[in-house]
Amino acid sequence: MDNPALQEIKDRLNIVDVISGYIPVKKAGVNFKAACPFHHEKTPSLIISSQKQIWHCFGCGEGGDVFGFVSKYENLDFKETLKLLADKAGVKLPEYRPQDKALVDEKELLSRINNFAARYYHEVLTASPAGKEALDYLHARGLNDITIKNWQIGFAPDEFHFLEKALLKKNVALNDLVKAGVSAKNERGQIYDRFRGRITFPIFNYFGEVVGFTARILHNESNGAKYINSPETAIYNKSKTLFALNFAKEAIRKKDEVVIVEGQMDCISSHQAGFNNAVASSGTALTEVALQQLGRLTKNLKFCFDADTAGQTASRRAGEAALKMGFRLKLIVLKNVKDPDELIKRSPGLWEKAISEAVWFLDYYIDLAAEKFKDGSVEQKLYLSKEVVPFLTYISDPLEQDHYVHKISNRFQISEKIIREQIKKERSPAPVAASGKVGPGMPLQKEVLGGLLFNPEFFNLYAPQVKAEDFEDPYISKLAAGLLSSGGQDIQVKSDTVAKEALFMVESQLDDLAGDTEKLNNQLKKTFSLFKLNSFKRQLQNLQAELKTAELAGNKPKIEELNKRVAEILNLRIVFEQNLNS
Ligand code: UTP
Ligand code: MN
Repeated sequence: MDNPALQEIKDRLNIVDVISGYIPVKKAGVNFKAACPFHHEKTPSLIISSQKQIWHCFGCGEGGDVFGFVSKYENLDFKETLKLLADKAGVKLPEYRPQDKALVDEKELLSRINNFAARYYHEVLTASPAGKEALDYLHARGLNDITIKNWQIGFAPDEFHFLEKALLKKNVALNDLVKAGVSAKNERGQIYDRFRGRITFPIFNYFGEVVGFTARILHNESNGAKYINSPETAIYNKSKTLFALNFAKEAIRKKDEVVIVEGQMDCISSHQAGFNNAVASSGTALTEVALQQLGRLTKNLKFCFDADTAGQTASRRAGEAALKMGFRLKLIVLKNVKDPDELIKRSPGLWEKAISEAVWFLDYYIDLAAEKFKDGSVEQKLYLSKEVVPFLTYISDPLEQDHYVHKISNRFQISEKIIREQIKKERSPAPVAASGKVGPGMPLQKEVLGGLLFNPEFFNLYAPQVKAEDFEDPYISKLAAGLLSSGGQDIQVKSDTVAKEALFMVESQLDDLAGDTEKLNNQLKKTFSLFKLNSFKRQLQNLQAELKTAELAGNKPKIEELNKRVAEILNLRIVFEQNLNS
């Protein structure tokens, strides 16, 4: 660990406190237990050691230290996690040495430019005559001054070099303004302010730093799009950034629900009216990355898309992605108003009512089929088959799926068999991977490593049977190699987080067995056997492939040698199969 701040953060934070800030945690003996947030489960199988500052889930095999938990839960990369935990721990981060100093310096600079622009435009809006008309407009739309300040809303005057002049005075290079997205460059190489004559809404990242803007035209009759946005930059990743998530994350977690609206104004109005678990999709497609980010906070989504065709298409597309990812999905249906902003302007109570009356996504489309077409008509059946049944295939819960098959069958007189056949035909072949990082054999490999680390007795017993190549995961294999070559003494391996987790896995099993090491040994023997059998299977597959090549080449000695190795493995396999069944 070459970052001293990292150690200081770990020293100051207790992993149990941090995790219990996210999920309910209960004391269980010397350790703590919780229902794992990274896979579906009812009985808690995630255990946390306060003493070791390590967690491990016996259900899905995930585990690690406090950084691993937070980065997984919040879906953050290492640096972002560091920042968040440093904040929690009250540790001031020094300038840490990044691998790519130039890139980080650039990000830092782009961030400073964007944050400056936000403050500058905000000042124009609130404190200069040039912003008066825009301010009046925002007031007329119902935004109050606190909201305008909190969201750092601003105004960019209708000039080509307004922001530019201010930033050049601060010795910022012209080209960096383009890189930051606040300026644009035309074909003739001329550089000019991107936002002109527009109200500016900063786009904040997860931590509340300005990474870009969306800007609304002040005069509806002017040329150009109603809203224009910053381009993607080194600090603004469009598919990852959800508008207002920085303001909404706490409320989303508390209410265990997120409201997704289309427009920035809808979102801001919703927050101002006290419904601050809202984010905006900003009129673009909701990406899987964005949904994943929300999934760390809640599984309950409520969409409120405009009733126009674009809104409907967006809603269906986002619905498909969300259902596939296991979200519980409802629709907020607006009647006689264009969007949430208009509804809230009439009365915030109406918005509250609309949110609470949200309907299940699929029920909405089923009702639509009943409304739109004559009962029993061919058109109705075709609509159901084309527009509704495909969505059933995305539902992973068999009970829920069954519910909808019954419902459609009963209500529209279509045989269940036909619906089920269609589902089968359409079923998407690739199931959504649960976690990405942990492969199926991973927990087994960790446990074997833990067994080797547990005590010298176990090491001497098992080490002769294990080779570093038996570990499929390259990282664990490296740890095992270090441990095996040092006779179990490698200090560096022992201080590794994955190794610590592996050891904790075995130790906590011993706790469950009331300290009976003999029983533990019996369990480990089975684990080792399973682990070896996995390794044999892989080796045999490789040998098979090699054999094929050798046969094609007619390489007799090679074939012979390979066959001998296959026979050896088959013999060894018998021993471990017996261990498994004993
Ligand atoms: P709308 O046209 O419904 O605008 O676009 P709105 O949100 O009601 O805006 P106001 O109330 O007139 O101010 C919905 C969303 O689509 C994106 C914006 O995110 C907008 O909020 N959009 C729309 C653009 O990006 N560019 C546009 O030209 C128009
Ligand atoms: Mn609107």
